[in-house]
Amino acid sequence: MSNGFQAWEVFESESGKFSGRIVSREVDQLPPGEVLVQVRYSGLNFKDALSASGNRGVTREYPHTPGVDAAGVVAASDADHLTVGQEVIVSGYDLGMNTAGAFAEMIRVPAKWVIPLPQGVSARESMIIGTAGFTAAQCVEKLIHNGLEAGDGPVLVTGASGGVGIMAVALLAKLGFAVTASTGKAASHELLQALGAAEIIDRGVLSEANPRPMQKQQWAGAVDVVGGVTLSNVIKSLRYQASVACCGLVESPEFPATVFPFILRAANLLGIDSAEAPLAKKIALWQRLAADWKPDGLERIATEISLDQLADSLDKILRGKALGRFLLRL
Ligand SMILES: NC(=O)c1ccc[n+]([C@@H]2O[C@H](COP(=O)([O-])OP(=O)(O)OC[C@H]3O[C@@H](n4cnc5c(N)ncnc54)[C@H](OP(=O)(O)O)[C@@H]3O)[C@@H](O)[C@H]2O)c1
Repeated sequence: MSNGFQAWEVFESESGKFSGRIVSREVDQLPPGEVLVQVRYSGLNFKDALSASGNRGVTREYPHTPGVDAAGVVAASDADHLTVGQEVIVSGYDLGMNTAGAFAEMIRVPAKWVIPLPQGVSARESMIIGTAGFTAAQCVEKLIHNGLEAGDGPVLVTGASGGVGIMAVALLAKLGFAVTASTGKAASHELLQALGAAEIIDRGVLSEANPRPMQKQQWAGAVDVVGGVTLSNVIKSLRYQASVACCGLVESPEFPATVFPFILRAANLLGIDSAEAPLAKKIALWQRLAADWKPDGLERIATEISLDQLADSLDKILRGKALGRFLLRL
């Protein structure tokens, strides 16, 4: 095996502008770790777009290679349970944040970050699902754990045409929930309906500030990737004892709130984090995503790209223009 490989690196120019370029790297330049992985696929996430645009809350030092999701093959391993040639997923923890990430043909990571690729899903499918699908699955799991049942009524998904949203729509519909998809893209309606959305609403309806402490009870449950005023409106319109799984901030990390929906309607605000979820939890949920929770229509929601198309694709994500999932083939 040659030690040279290609990677996509983000650097800061003297004027403070961040740009990406394809570079040649040596394996010796990778950070220390027990497992060297030859990356076959990565999937693009909102966090990658933040890292690629110089967001210091995600990545402190540049030049840097983003990419929080990888699927590939073990190329070298100091861990007994991971063998050369084994197919694996590496997702989250510090990958692509301050550790050189998966927009590269090789990564080296701690063994405690590595998930054996479960049977029932290919490397390619696993990266169409990616952190977005894993996050959607965590949201759905927590909603069900908090009492949501199919037949309870409409379950709202915000940012429905983006990565997490589209995976949440597909998964909820597969599990028999009546999904209402909120989106700002007319071009996504047909795909969302094909994935099983029963109703589609314009996201402008939810992002308008409303001074009332509570609104008409509508949602039996909700997955929110948006935050901001949208999250506030969702909380105010949950049905009695219903929950919203909160996982994103594309509108804003701040949201106006009063305690009324919590103390008068027993509403639940459920927090979701995927990056630092314990490895055992990640392995168990990935096994589920490879079996009865495997979303239908995965190829339909994927756009395959190569390293030289990364900049454009990440820019689309940052501007909220992405439809479905970008799959990076290495
Ligand atoms: N908690 C976790 O562990 C975790 C894991 C993964 C992602 N996330 C977060 O989840 C969020 C979504 O991630 P993603 O990968 O799905 O991103 P994405 O693919 O870029 O999708 C985001 C979608 O949100 C909608 N949107 C964009 N700007 C908006 C705005 N100003 N107001 C309302 N809606 C807007 C758009 O969909 P429509 O046009 O359909 O409305 C957009 O496609 C991000 O904040 C990300 O950081 C969190």
